[in-house]
Amino acid sequence: MKSEKIPQNLPRHIAFIMDGNGRWAKKRFLPRKAGHREGVKAMRKIVDACFSLDIPYVSLYAFSTENKNRSEEEVRSLFSLIEEYFTKFMGEMLEKGIRITVMGDVSYFPENLRNTISEAIEKSRECTHGTLNIALNYGARDEILRAVNAAVEAGQKVSAEEFARLLYTADIPDPDLIVRTGGESRLSNFMLYQSAYSEFFFSEVLWPDFNKKHLYEILNDYALRERRFGKVKS
Ligand code: FPP
Repeated sequence: MKSEKIPQNLPRHIAFIMDGNGRWAKKRFLPRKAGHREGVKAMRKIVDACFSLDIPYVSLYAFSTENKNRSEEEVRSLFSLIEEYFTKFMGEMLEKGIRITVMGDVSYFPENLRNTISEAIEKSRECTHGTLNIALNYGARDEILRAVNAAVEAGQKVSAEEFARLLYTADIPDPDLIVRTGGESRLSNFMLYQSAYSEFFFSEVLWPDFNKKHLYEILNDYALRERRFGKVKS
């Protein structure tokens, strides 16, 4: 089957905007948190599939700076899912040699969650099989402003390379492919600086329904794209 063909010419860095959890739940007359819980299951399978293909960098948009404005109940349920994910699956990640990195301002998170996140980052620091980069309380405008202010504080003009090192993704290459599920075609404040030459794929599938078959279809589509990075075809 075409979709099950192991894709060639894989991205080095794939990023996911995991949209559609709420609608998935609504369609089933379930609370939104049930959609997020199902979203975590999909997330685990997709992350596994990416690392099994030896894609070295995977980024996930798990909690945006704007998500803070959702109801207290939903924010709390997202916090507890993130906490559960880090505690339950950390061992698995370490066994697989996956380094965890986080981008975003986690100072806003409750102390127990901050400690769990720091522990995961610390324990996995030396892992080399792959990097799972999770966006938590992340917003690209916020990230760019922080970098600009850091440069201003240092009192020196910066080159593009130096500026990139002031971003959360300092040691992570730019995403080659950004996938957004849930039928919306926008970036929603995700990796605005890093996505200058990224390829995009917008899928109608709601995130909890997104599976390996959908991933392979997208990777096969990506493999056929011609990336010119602003240059003419050689
Ligand atoms: C968008 O769906 C999804 C989110 C705001 C949260 C994504 C989070 C997870 C999948 C789980 C938590 C993450 C980790 C790291 C354990 P939506 O709620 O905006 O859906 P809708 O557009 O259908 O309402």
